[in-house]
Amino acid sequence: MTGGADADPEPLSEADALARDDADPLSAYRQRFHLPIGPDGAPAIYLAGQSLGLQPRTARAEVEAELEAWARLGVDAWFEPDRPWFTYTERLREPMARIVGARPSEVAVLNGLTVDIHLLLASFFRPDGRRTRILVDGPLFPSDRHALTSHLAQRGLDPARDLLVIEPRDGSSIVPTARLEDAIREHGAELAVVFLAGVNFATGQLHEIQRLTAAAREAGAIVGWDLAHAAGNVELSLHDWDVDFAAWCTYKYLNGGPGSVGAIFVHDRHGQDPTTPRLGGWWGLAPDRRFDIVEPFAPAVGAAGWEASTPPVLALAPLAASLRIFDEVGLPALRARSIELTGFLARLLDAQAIEVITPADPAARGAHLSLRFGDAEAILEKLAARGVVADFRAPDIVRVAPIPLYNTYHEAWRFAHLLHEARG
Ligand SMILES: Cc1ncc(COP(=O)(O)O)c(C=O)c1O
Repeated sequence: MTGGADADPEPLSEADALARDDADPLSAYRQRFHLPIGPDGAPAIYLAGQSLGLQPRTARAEVEAELEAWARLGVDAWFEPDRPWFTYTERLREPMARIVGARPSEVAVLNGLTVDIHLLLASFFRPDGRRTRILVDGPLFPSDRHALTSHLAQRGLDPARDLLVIEPRDGSSIVPTARLEDAIREHGAELAVVFLAGVNFATGQLHEIQRLTAAAREAGAIVGWDLAHAAGNVELSLHDWDVDFAAWCTYKYLNGGPGSVGAIFVHDRHGQDPTTPRLGGWWGLAPDRRFDIVEPFAPAVGAAGWEASTPPVLALAPLAASLRIFDEVGLPALRARSIELTGFLARLLDAQAIEVITPADPAARGAHLSLRFGDAEAILEKLAARGVVADFRAPDIVRVAPIPLYNTYHEAWRFAHLLHEARG
């Protein structure tokens, strides 16, 4: 590099990465998280937030406050005036609604993602006449496949025919929006449900949710989204985009902790409609009716009506801590940093001619990049020995996600450098 002290650093150099970290006020949020330690005793380069987000430093105090309430009050903590457990999930609705662009009445926090998909399919998969099929994008996450095929089988349908997976083809790794649109139109009269991934777990492709929702609704199908890899990663406007239903987990980008509680969106046009079928349970009633025998079952208005069981308060506490951080930063600022950070990493990988199957257009991806290597597992092993935490998806994909809340440009640079060494 040439030039004086104020010269701009050479693009994509280590100095460039460090300067970007210095210049970005959001860099300070890294201090709010516990960073796992690598083999050399220094913080690992943690690029696996698309699998398990890191622990907010405030999570422990939040859990301890509930442990303390349990110790001090026992059962009375359910109705303790300051922060009653009885309405714990209600208090999460507003911050969660901001994550997905919904009204608070359209969101509920409950169960795990797969169970939530089951509950929503019980309500929204209503095969009728020729409309028996469920259209999904491939590659399809195994748990979603199991959930969908079990609903088809339970209703006497044939999963081999009625689950219509639109897989990548013609040598491409992703399914272009136009192809999904064409498939929706072509099969429109047979579709009961279109169920798509907001961000595909394997490819990192961010689908055009508004456009595909419109296409599916025009075809007369109900539209649901699996937002496991989208919630807390990209900006969403589920209400305005007219999505029917959606579900997501909170342990990836939302940093809620291992196996943390899932969440659902049900558009108010269904949630406010008492004829929408719901599987019942006492927690699905309005709080003041939970102890009553309500016959017939009359669920609370909105997504809250899908809650069935007592919420796991200790498991929700880290999520409450994490959602406060999201509220402080705001998704627009986070997404802006994410586009820059992932873009920086993408350019470093491009300079090494690494095959990245995730779309190059920032509008068609979130934080995560999927890299393809013939010897992906061996490369991941070498990276792990050098303090990099990433993950593998068979047969040949290494997934890396620089998370805008806690990863740095310098880590992106160091990762690219270590990858170069590992490929040696
Ligand atoms: C796309 C997708 N669907 C479903 C699941 C399953 O989630 P859970 O184990 O919380 O039910 C995951 C988990 O990673 C996922 O990524």
